[in-house]
Amino acid sequence: MRKLITILLLTGVIALAHGQDNGDQAGDPEAGGSSNGGQASLRGLTQLDVTKKADAFKRIPKDRSPYVSDYVYQPPLIPHRIRGYEISTNANKCLSCHSFKNARDAGATKISVTHYGTREGQVLSDVSPRRYFCLQCHVTQSDTAVLVENDFKRVDSLR
Ligand code: HEC
Ligand code: HEC
Repeated sequence: MRKLITILLLTGVIALAHGQDNGDQAGDPEAGGSSNGGQASLRGLTQLDVTKKADAFKRIPKDRSPYVSDYVYQPPLIPHRIRGYEISTNANKCLSCHSFKNARDAGATKISVTHYGTREGQVLSDVSPRRYFCLQCHVTQSDTAVLVENDFKRVDSLR
């Protein structure tokens, strides 16, 4: 009986050691794996070749009045939820409220004329392709912990 227990324990130890071995290999670039080198980034300490579990959705205010800008020419923050709003070749949900044509009926702010300008300074009759993907510049805001400590201060003229 004792012998059996010893054997069982030994197999357990070997299995454990083997498991650890694999783990190390995944984190060792020379063994063909990849490692974060112990450096935490915005994705935490997750190994480079491992997909990090997605963060929970942030709480975005449903609808509120526009936020005050923090600096001149800031793309204004989006003061409403946008989940499920399609922006594709076929449709641009944002423009269904924010385009010059629809803004008045929707009670939304019109996109400004800068959204009609091309890179060369030509003004088009519709939104410029470089302003089509609204979320490249405009983001929703939620009250969360700061990702990077900073002492940014809003410019005086916009207070
Ligand atoms: C159903 C209509 C509707 C849709 C769709 C919509 N919005 Fe809005 N949006 C509004 C309204 C209404 C306001 C608030 C206007 C106000 O209170 O002055 C607003 C405000 C904004 C503002 C703030 C403007 C300012 O002056 O600060 C931004 C930026 C914005 N939306 C971007 C977007 C983007 C980007 C999308 C698409 C992802 C989008 N909106 C989709 C109706 C809409
Ligand atoms: C390349 C960056 C960029 C993209 C893309 C972009 N915007 Fe803007 N947007 C800005 C900036 C910068 C401002 C503030 C200065 C200005 O009006 O040009 C602004 C201003 C606005 C405003 C406020 C206008 C006002 O008169 O106060 C609205 C509304 C808006 N954008 C909606 C949109 C929508 C909807 C889209 C997508 C169709 C979009 N933007 C795409 C950069 C961008």
